[in-house]
Amino acid sequence: MQRDKLHPDGPEISRLVAGVWRWHTVSPETVDRLVRTALDQGISTFDHADIYGDHGNEEIFGQVLKKQPALRAQMELVTKCGIKLVSGKRPATRLKHYDTTRAHVTWSVDHSLAALGTDYLDLLLIHRPDPLLNPAELAETFADLKQQGKVLHVGVSNFTPSQFDVLQQALDFPLVTNQIEISLSRVDPLFNGDLDNLMLHRVRAMAWSPLGGGKRVGDERDWFAMAARHNASYSQLALAWLMQHPSGIFPIIGTTQPDRIVESAKALSIQLDRQDWFEMLRWATGREVA
Ligand SMILES: NC(=O)c1ccc[n+]([C@@H]2O[C@H](COP(=O)([O-])OP(=O)(O)OC[C@H]3O[C@@H](n4cnc5c(N)ncnc54)[C@H](OP(=O)(O)O)[C@@H]3O)[C@@H](O)[C@H]2O)c1
Repeated sequence: MQRDKLHPDGPEISRLVAGVWRWHTVSPETVDRLVRTALDQGISTFDHADIYGDHGNEEIFGQVLKKQPALRAQMELVTKCGIKLVSGKRPATRLKHYDTTRAHVTWSVDHSLAALGTDYLDLLLIHRPDPLLNPAELAETFADLKQQGKVLHVGVSNFTPSQFDVLQQALDFPLVTNQIEISLSRVDPLFNGDLDNLMLHRVRAMAWSPLGGGKRVGDERDWFAMAARHNASYSQLALAWLMQHPSGIFPIIGTTQPDRIVESAKALSIQLDRQDWFEMLRWATGREVA
């Protein structure tokens, strides 16, 4: 599996990332197999959030590390904070909202470290843009977390270019990614400036729901022809299509099936030509380019 940096001064991670969002729907034994299968395929980066699985998935994953502590050194852990959900586990929250204050971000990082059973996060992301985000306060919080060694790198998720820029200008170090929704089911970031702005900053996007959460686009007969041409499955083609973008997108695969992790890893060997790429774009948008 290829590896690459999210930013010249950022972490080196695997070109495919394993997303843990859906992993509470399978048994702990399957989670163990998902982790080991990913690592066997060279997928060493795992994408978490404090809220996944009603605040439970970091701990489920942490159990795997507890049993096999040597695995920690073989992986990069990404997690997110800043969304407060209404949950039996968080009785003080009566309404879903965002919180990017020093107090909450610091508390959330400590909580994620304890749940995952690690003493550092490779990457911490602010999950959603918070309209009450105070860039100076968050910049200080990030700097302290880095200085304490609890967080090695920071980034954001679902930020617009201007939201990204406002936070970046308050920092003395780079935001190393913006994790956004990009796929054949959501092609807007190709055209709305999201990827352009990241390229200006030499920052690479992480793509969430790279298979549109399992939805297919386009006509099945067209897909069959493309699949036969490349001896590849729909999901492999959809991942290859994303990775072919010159900005260097890192797809976060969300499967809960170890076999599909193995299948996804093969996407890296698919080379689409320009006409294949534009044909897939046409299936996504339903029209020819102008
Ligand atoms: N930053 C954010 O706001 C945000 C939001 C959403 C997600 N995320 C991150 O992105 C990750 C991926 O999101 P996602 O789960 O929606 O990604 P996805 O890879 O687009 O979708 C995965 C879903 O598609 C299904 N699927 C159907 N056919 C498949 C195939 N051939 N290969 C693989 N999967 C197939 C999977 O089912 P099976 O499990 O049965 O394979 C699973 O339910 C999450 O785990 C999370 O880490 C971030």
